[in-house]
Amino acid sequence: MEQLSDQRRMIRLEETDSTNRYLKQLVREEHPEEGSLVIADYQTGGRGQIGNSWRSARGENLLFSLVIYPRQLPANESFILSRITSLALKNMLDQFAIDIRIKWPNDIYWKDKKIAGILIENDIQGKEIDNSVIGIGINVNQQIFPLDLPNPVSLCQITGTLHDREYLLDLFLREFFLLYRDLQDDQKTAIEDEYMLDLYRVNDFYWFEDQNGRFKAKIEAVLSSGHLVLRTLDSNEERIYAFKEVSFVD
Ligand code: BTN
Repeated sequence: MEQLSDQRRMIRLEETDSTNRYLKQLVREEHPEEGSLVIADYQTGGRGQIGNSWRSARGENLLFSLVIYPRQLPANESFILSRITSLALKNMLDQFAIDIRIKWPNDIYWKDKKIAGILIENDIQGKEIDNSVIGIGINVNQQIFPLDLPNPVSLCQITGTLHDREYLLDLFLREFFLLYRDLQDDQKTAIEDEYMLDLYRVNDFYWFEDQNGRFKAKIEAVLSSGHLVLRTLDSNEERIYAFKEVSFVD
């Protein structure tokens, strides 16, 4: 992480509503250095994708947000930030468990269960991204989850042992900033290729569901916009979906 400034802020909170919200406000008010972090033991209003909440037991997991100021990244290519964040999480978790995959667009799965989630909030200026607040929740040591969560799992449940959250955070940051440097060095294709290889349910036909019903298809590509390209089994037709227009059928 040699390119990171010593001036970056690291804010540790026992409790906040949402580390993303907290950091976004700090970015607006103080423009902290790239790589600045807010980490909390507990969130009273943890936010997930598409208006969902992110619930996490107090003191057991990793809940943090990180700010970056990507240079000249067009707003319509912001999905590359989801790719590097999910790859960094996968690379970090691979050091403890096998079968970690990225479920399109950016959920982190172990087998068929979700171990981590990402919420990226970009601030666009003109056609480019001015700052990006990358929020991450990783289930680390939690062993009992609310019954209404669909399919959670923690690293502790996978490995059978408790994990040091600080150490995991360090490993994540290392992986993230390696990939971020690749991005700044214009290695987008390599990042896209790696993301493709690490996708959940890639390379075979699986059941999906869209507004017209269920169908079997194979993942063909993920576009730079983040859209998912599927090839249907029955009609050999290409279908392109935005997030939430299609879901995986279990
Ligand atoms: C999802 O899978 O729905 C995304 C979950 C993202 C949760 C993290 S926890 C830290 C950060 N602060 C938030 O309010 N949300 C993200």
